[in-house]
Amino acid sequence: MKMRLSGVLVCLLLLWVDGSWGDTPANCTYEELLGTWVFQVSKGGHDNTINCSAEATGQSTVTVTLEKLSVATDELGHIGFFTLIYNQGFEVVINGYKWFAFFKYTEDGPKVTSYCDQTLPGWVHDVLGNNWACFVGKRVNSVPLKIDYKPVFSSRLHQKPYKHNLDFIDSINSVQKSWKAAPYPEHEMYTLKELHYRAGGPASRIPVRVRSMPVKADLAKMAAALPEHWDWRNVDGVNFRHPSSCGSCYSFASMGMLEARVRILTNNTETPILSPQQVVSCSEYSQGCDGGFPYLIGKYVQDFGVVDESCFPYVAKDTPCGVPQNCGRIYTAEYNYVGGFYGGCSEMAMMLELVKNGPMGVAFEVYPDFMHYKEGIYHHTGLADPFNPFELTNHAVLLVGYGRCHMTGQKYWIDGYFRIRRGSDECAIESIAVAANPIPKL
Ligand SMILES: *[C@@H]1O[C@H](CO)[C@@H](O)[C@H](O)[C@H]1NC(C)=O
Ligand SMILES: *[C@@H]1O[C@H](CO)[C@@H](O)[C@H](O)[C@H]1NC(C)=O
Ligand SMILES: *[C@@H]1O[C@H](CO)[C@@H](O)[C@H](O)[C@H]1NC(C)=O
Repeated sequence: MKMRLSGVLVCLLLLWVDGSWGDTPANCTYEELLGTWVFQVSKGGHDNTINCSAEATGQSTVTVTLEKLSVATDELGHIGFFTLIYNQGFEVVINGYKWFAFFKYTEDGPKVTSYCDQTLPGWVHDVLGNNWACFVGKRVNSVPLKIDYKPVFSSRLHQKPYKHNLDFIDSINSVQKSWKAAPYPEHEMYTLKELHYRAGGPASRIPVRVRSMPVKADLAKMAAALPEHWDWRNVDGVNFRHPSSCGSCYSFASMGMLEARVRILTNNTETPILSPQQVVSCSEYSQGCDGGFPYLIGKYVQDFGVVDESCFPYVAKDTPCGVPQNCGRIYTAEYNYVGGFYGGCSEMAMMLELVKNGPMGVAFEVYPDFMHYKEGIYHHTGLADPFNPFELTNHAVLLVGYGRCHMTGQKYWIDGYFRIRRGSDECAIESIAVAANPIPKL
């Protein structure tokens, strides 16, 4: 049987990495991160092969205070930077060192306890990537434990094959004219559970919203000077996007960003295809493909580099980290949340980042109506399909441009496969954009 899959579904399918669901179950907030932390540090002088599960910490301590919005200070009066990473951990850059750790959590069946005032063993090294050590962090004034329960599928329901509900599709098309929904017969090859896994799975999360910041006047001024339409697949007739690549899971979206940015920096003379599998198999900063930590993929590539796809090909499952020694690696010069820190994102900051530096990875919430997207400018209709219960998931894509519709004035973002409403944080697409800049080979 010939498979005819929609572009959107192809991307959703690709993101499924067998058995390697993403985030740690920790669920901590920006407010819980603010305050004074004591870092217990192990003996330094290691390289990036250090194993932080095995190092004894407590050789020395460093105390840092994290304050609004992103200011870190230490006991010697140095001033640095920090950001929350999703709801999972944080990074602090101060006095020439970078500190990163996940929040501590414990699991007891579906019951998850987050200790948002403590960390798991984390990594510290100088900003040049030398002198590695490990640390654990503890906040001076503790915050209450947080108990969450992991979502479970109502399994019997989800074993049933997906079946088209044409009424659902008709109602999507009748309540709005901005985008068109269509049935995709190929969906019926899967059970609800499979489709759901392929679209993000039970462990993927809704972004934790941080209050959005007012846009600064200088940012607004620069954004006002940008062109009305931008698309990296056609900049005066030149395409800077790897033609067939599909940013599906976070690892793919992040590699797609780095690939496009190398092309931009080298005027298309370097066209690497990078290995998403390496991040899946090797990174201790994320957990598998749909980790939801594009920020930490940028960090991983800075600390360890990433090899070509041909050197460590994609196998769609969690395999041991067997990257051949002799493969060349590309590194990132920097990585950051667009807007400066987690919670600082805005439409204007994203437009500037896009035009200035290239495509970028974003996450958005996938609702059931999106599975039927055919064309137009997507926005969530609020409609649910009563015959195919489908839980909310989130999904990573690579934004390549933006534009505005001549007829209606509607603004949109462009991914390779669809357009989505711009300017109103549609499906949370303007909440956690991440940028990372590769260092091209000379
Ligand atoms: C995380 O915690 C917030 C409240 O702080 C809660 O609303 C949310 O559902 C939790 N998320 C998960 C995935 O447990
Ligand atoms: C790191 O150390 C832990 C605890 O000693 C051990 O279980 C684990 O296998 C080590 N990891 C590596 C990659 O050597
Ligand atoms: C970039 O490459 C194009 C050919 O694809 C060439 O016409 C153009 O002059 C190059 N630009 C620079 C700045 O080298």
